[in-house]
Amino acid sequence: FGRVLRTLKTVDSTQKVAHQWAREGAPEGAAVIAEEQTAGRGRLGRSWHSPPGSGIWMSLILRPPIPIARAPQLTLMASVGIARALIDMTHLPVRIKWPNDLLIRDKKVCGILTELRGEQDRVHYAVLGAGINVNIDGEAWPPDLKGKVTSLSAEAGRAFRRSPLIAAMLKELEAIYEKYLEQGFSAVHKEWERLSGILGRPVKVRNASGEVSGIARGLNGDGALLLDTEEGLIPIYSAEIIEGCQ
Ligand code: BTN
Repeated sequence: FGRVLRTLKTVDSTQKVAHQWAREGAPEGAAVIAEEQTAGRGRLGRSWHSPPGSGIWMSLILRPPIPIARAPQLTLMASVGIARALIDMTHLPVRIKWPNDLLIRDKKVCGILTELRGEQDRVHYAVLGAGINVNIDGEAWPPDLKGKVTSLSAEAGRAFRRSPLIAAMLKELEAIYEKYLEQGFSAVHKEWERLSGILGRPVKVRNASGEVSGIARGLNGDGALLLDTEEGLIPIYSAEIIEGCQ
């Protein structure tokens, strides 16, 4: 991954550039990295704070031969790959929050946004976007984010160079993606559970069908979150955690 690479100084969103590039035929593993995004995109229509030179704002093009129904597994796989790289490079206690965040001490340090284009029921390509807060001072956050987010430098008490982190991330992402394509989601499952910060914790989730509370027990074979509720064990395929594990 990243052997075909576009590095940009300022861009609206690396996701947008990667979509355009994928439509023009960019190969699998091609990556777009920017120093600054002026309109970084988060999930659910939110924006992503991407100040210049302070983070890794990256979009990776994947062309997995899988049905669209399995696409949420790409985010889970990526969260394991990125967590591995960050732990290896920083030794910080990085944990995964289902479905797409990485936290350090309950504050968000990385968000993942997977956007798909399908052809009938198969994935045509996916743009896997990752935003990692690298060198952002605790005081520098906009007021609505303060206390909920953090950066590697704030947690470690020292600054990090971005390029070795990028290299480690691309390497781990490539390794875990290959394993996932060869062996399926079971190759990722155990490690996801080990790195997850929510197992055994009470959580409340919200999706289009409403809110459910329960104890997070793990993932099923498809990657759905298993919630232990009053009505028994329920698989949650997509939702947001709104309480329990920040
Ligand atoms: C989230 O937690 O809401 C997901 C955030 C994803 C942010 C990254 S930064 C690189 C890529 N380009 C974007 O515009 N968004 C993603």
